Amino acid sequence: MGVARQVDKPRACEGRAEGQVEAVPRTRAGLRGPVGRLAYYTRARERFPRRGFRVAICTYVERTAAIHDGLQLRPAGAEDDEAIERLGAAAADGGAIGFRIHTHVRTSGTALTHFSSVVAEDIRNGELVGSARLTLGRFRYEGAERPYALLGALVVHPSHRRQGVARALARWRIERAEQLAGPNVVVVADIQRGNVGSMAAARRWATAFSMPAISVPVPMLSHPPRAPKGVELRAVSGEDLPEVAAGVTEATQEYNFARIWSPKTLEQWLQWVPAGEPVNHYRVATSPSGAILAGLAVREEGLLRTMEVVRMPAAIRLANSVLRVVPKDRMLRNLSVEHFWFLPGQREAATALWQDTRWSFRERASNMLITLDPRSPVLPVLDVKAWTPKTSITTAVRADLPPREDRLVAPLE
Ligand SMILES: CC(C)(COP(=O)(O)OP(=O)(O)OC[C@H]1O[C@@H](n2cnc3c(N)ncnc32)[C@H](O)[C@@H]1OP(=O)(O)O)[C@@H](O)C(=O)NCCC(=O)NCCS
Repeated sequence: MGVARQVDKPRACEGRAEGQVEAVPRTRAGLRGPVGRLAYYTRARERFPRRGFRVAICTYVERTAAIHDGLQLRPAGAEDDEAIERLGAAAADGGAIGFRIHTHVRTSGTALTHFSSVVAEDIRNGELVGSARLTLGRFRYEGAERPYALLGALVVHPSHRRQGVARALARWRIERAEQLAGPNVVVVADIQRGNVGSMAAARRWATAFSMPAISVPVPMLSHPPRAPKGVELRAVSGEDLPEVAAGVTEATQEYNFARIWSPKTLEQWLQWVPAGEPVNHYRVATSPSGAILAGLAVREEGLLRTMEVVRMPAAIRLANSVLRVVPKDRMLRNLSVEHFWFLPGQREAATALWQDTRWSFRERASNMLITLDPRSPVLPVLDVKAWTPKTSITTAVRADLPPREDRLVAPLE
């Protein structure tokens, strides 16, 4: 198959030969330009991470709308849903734990975010060979509220891999994100440990990678936990929302990628009904006087999609045969946990809240799923052991500032 490639020089490289080395001030290695300039910046940074200015090597990259003869990118429509589902079934996530997603309810966002999807199509036969999603929202990054673009749900059919399809899908989404959210947008993608292909594709556009977060599925409880003393556990009421929003904000103020919660966004999030009933819930632990000591957000992901585990490393398989985190049919109906926080000194209240949620939602999900920074104060509450089945997630980031390593992360997915 002939490859139609148009070589595009980053502006900073104009008049310079490929491979030529030069020192460029930070501003000239900035990220506002087209994707070509971004690749230029990335490589410069990887090789010469010096302060004040960078030594850059001019590297030219292809910028094409058509990927190959006969292959094109276009926005996805509702009529593509089934073909996207088939594509996902043919290509499991390439990370350490391989999984496929089976979608039950399609949505155009998650109450506070908006999705759009792009597909790569073989125009000779109308077959989809790749698809990917772009989610826009706002989060906290390097201490400031910023627009973000999350690149997710990336799949390329096995028979079309290593031909630049993923690269083209990323470029399309980044350009669209910049059009819609402006040049200040922080582009991120969450990549599971061991996903060599995805990491390689992300290196094309990312300027940095965050410290890894751990992702732990925890089974529901089959026996009720002991009732805690001096702590009440319940769902939030409308009156609690300002206190909850303040608690979450305080706890995640310094985190990268943390969603922004206000009483209003929290209310919108709770009122989201994509599948005939609400899927988002917020639960709290309170003191006898009614003060909120701890809180956690849960999303009944299993109502919207099921995660079929198709591959596990031997050690995890062995641990799972004892712990039974992944059920026999290998279908995970996740109860996703977000923004689990507690006030200083209130770890016991947080533990009681966690255990109670594992029990109260036992019939609505096969397991809890939480992704958190291994340095998070919440980790001890989960009682994760060395042998607990888990994986890790790195966030690829494209931004004007790299994520500082001493900041904790709260990945979006
Ligand atoms: C990951 C995936 C999307 C890559 O798609 P692709 O179309 O083959 O990727 P591209 O051809 O655009 O490759 C982009 C870069 O990654 C490299 N790459 C891709 N797959 C690779 C692999 N398995 N090993 C090493 N490098 C790889 C390519 O060589 C290319 O590098 P270059 O830009 O320096 O030339 C595809 O393998 C896939 O669908 N995997 C299963 C689903 C999945 O894991 N999705 C990602 C979830 S985060």
